[in-house]
Amino acid sequence: MFMQTLQNRYTCRSFNNEMNVSDADLETVLEAARISPSCFNLQHWKLLVIKGRDKKESIKHCFHMGKNSIMVSDSSILIIVLSKKAEILRAGTEYVSNIFNSLYEDELIRKHIYEGYAKKYPTDEDINNWSKRQCMLAVSNIVNCATSLSINSAIMEGFKEDPLSECINLDRNLYDPVVCIALGYAKPGKIKRATRIEMEELVEFL
Ligand SMILES: Cc1cc2nc3c(=O)[nH]c(=O)nc-3n(C[C@H](O)[C@H](O)[C@H](O)COP(=O)(O)O)c2cc1C
Repeated sequence: MFMQTLQNRYTCRSFNNEMNVSDADLETVLEAARISPSCFNLQHWKLLVIKGRDKKESIKHCFHMGKNSIMVSDSSILIIVLSKKAEILRAGTEYVSNIFNSLYEDELIRKHIYEGYAKKYPTDEDINNWSKRQCMLAVSNIVNCATSLSINSAIMEGFKEDPLSECINLDRNLYDPVVCIALGYAKPGKIKRATRIEMEELVEFL
């Protein structure tokens, strides 16, 4: 069943602009992101959801011209996935302390892990890069959950970070935009499937 969902997912580049994702389905997809795993349970992502077509029109110029901006226009929903930055994730912030407190009841263990955390990502740049990587699990769960509900999706990195951040009044001290996910329903037509490398090339058993 799960494999069937993975096999059904593909990047939809041609959405039917007359079909909308229901609020109930959207809620399910967002829940898939909410319960995604993350290192130290720090839940590095924040999701901005744009439902209205007018709002999407106002930001589509921030996306690479051609397919991406059309995908933004024609999809039903656009999710902008943000990564939390060092300002939030640095050891010692209220956010991190609260999560560590809920994760590790034993004070000594908590202190030990906290120190390890502070050393593993010593600079803000380390934290910010790590945080972006962590977001991809939530992204994966979003698109696969959408597929399980027969909703088509497209993950997009092809946008200009600074103009988009300005358009949505994003505080770049706190967040970076990582990817955008268009959700909707495909126009009827033949699906061109991307190929994959063979298993023998992908996997090496040691
Ligand atoms: C992080 C990420 C960024 C991507 N950015 C874009 C994009 O900007 N525009 C686009 O058309 N496809 C984008 N894609 C889709 C990939 O091109 C696509 O996943 C790949 O070719 C495999 O095809 P499939 O998703 O149909 O299996 C992106 C995919 C990922 C995972």
